[in-house]
Amino acid sequence: MPEPNVPSRAGSATCPAGTDIAYAAECLRSGGLVGMPTETVYGLAAAALQPRAVAAVFEVKRRPHFDPLIVHLSEFDQLPMVATDISAQAYRLAEHFWPGPLTMILPRTTEVPDLVTAGLPGVGVRIPAHPLARRLIAAAGFPVAAPSANLFGGMSPTTAEHVSDGLGGFIDYVLDGGPCSIGVESTVVSLMEDRPLLLRHGGLPLEDLERLIGPISVAALNPDADNSAQPAPGMLSRHYAPRTRMQLISPEAEAQPVPGARSVLLTWGNAPIAPGFDRIHSLGPAEDLRICAAGFFAALRMLDALSPDVIIARQFVDFGLGRALNDRLRRGSAGSEPNQAH
Ligand code: TXA
Ligand code: MG
Repeated sequence: MPEPNVPSRAGSATCPAGTDIAYAAECLRSGGLVGMPTETVYGLAAAALQPRAVAAVFEVKRRPHFDPLIVHLSEFDQLPMVATDISAQAYRLAEHFWPGPLTMILPRTTEVPDLVTAGLPGVGVRIPAHPLARRLIAAAGFPVAAPSANLFGGMSPTTAEHVSDGLGGFIDYVLDGGPCSIGVESTVVSLMEDRPLLLRHGGLPLEDLERLIGPISVAALNPDADNSAQPAPGMLSRHYAPRTRMQLISPEAEAQPVPGARSVLLTWGNAPIAPGFDRIHSLGPAEDLRICAAGFFAALRMLDALSPDVIIARQFVDFGLGRALNDRLRRGSAGSEPNQAH
C-alpha cells in the first residue's frame, strides 16, 4: 500500500492500471490517488474528507487552490455528509439527472475540508453514472473528490491511457473503465441563490435542465478578465488547451489552411475536400453531437501529437452539446497567437 499522500511512483512514467476495485478503494483509504473512470471524463480521485489526500490532488495536478473540487457520491444517501439545506429544486434535479453528468453546487456541511471548496460556502456534488466509479466510491465507503485527471489547464482524459500518460508517475492506480461515453465534463449549476446559475456547460444540455426547472441564468465568461475577476472559480479563459495553437472558424465557414504553416483541421459532418491540410479529422455526424463529444478530447490529443503549427477547429452551432463543445474550443484556443478567426 502507498504511504499516505506520497505519490509512490513519482519520477517513473506509468502506474498500475486495471479493474481491481478493492485495491483502488484501499489506495483511497490510505490517502492515495486513483484515476477513476466516469461517464464524462476520468477523474483524479482522493478521499474527499481527508485534507491531506485532497492536498495531494492539488499538488499533482499543479492546480491553484482557488479552484474547488467536485465531490462524487455513489448513492443519494451520502448527500447529507457533504451538503445541507437541500432545496426542493435540487431534489428534483437529483431525481431526474443523477446518476449522470450534472454537478450541483449546494450549501456545504462543516465536514467538507476548506481545500475542497476553496473556502466557498458551496460544495460541488455529483453521482457519476459510470458503474466502476460508483462501485469504487461504494467500496471506499466515503465521498470522493475528483477533478479531471490532467495537469491543470490541459485537455481532459477520456481513456485510462490518457491518465497514465499525463499523471502516471504521480498516482497510485488507474481504474480502467474503457473510453468515457460522454467525453465532456459535467454541467455545473449553482443552487446557492434563488435562481439557478449555470457555471459550466457540459454533458447535460442546458435545454434539458430548463425543461425541468425553467429558466437558468448563465454565468458569463469574460475571456479578457484575469482569473480573480471571473464569476466563479475555475472559469478560466484558457483551459482544456492543447500545446498547439488553435484557431477557430465558424460553423459554416470554408476551412482554409494557414499559408506557410503546417495546418490540421478538426471538424464535424462531412470532411471537406480542402487541399493543404496535413490532416483532416471529422468528429462525427452533425446530427449526433453525442458522437462528436465522445471523441472530442481524444481527437484533439491525436492532432496535437502530430505537432502541427496550427489546429483549425470548426465551432458547433450553440445548442445542446454544441454549447459544451464550443466552450472547450473557445477556452482551448484562448491566448493562442495570433488572435483566432471567428
Ligand atoms: O465531469 C466532471 O465534472 C469531471 C468528472 C471527473 O466528474 N470533473 C471535473 O472536475 O471536470 P474539474 O475539477 O476539472 O472541474 C470542476 C469545476 C471547477 O473548476 C469549478 O469551476 C467547478 O467545477 N466547481 C467545483 N466545485 C465548486 C464550488 N464549490 N463552487 C463553484 N464551482 C465549483
Ligand atoms: Mg478539469
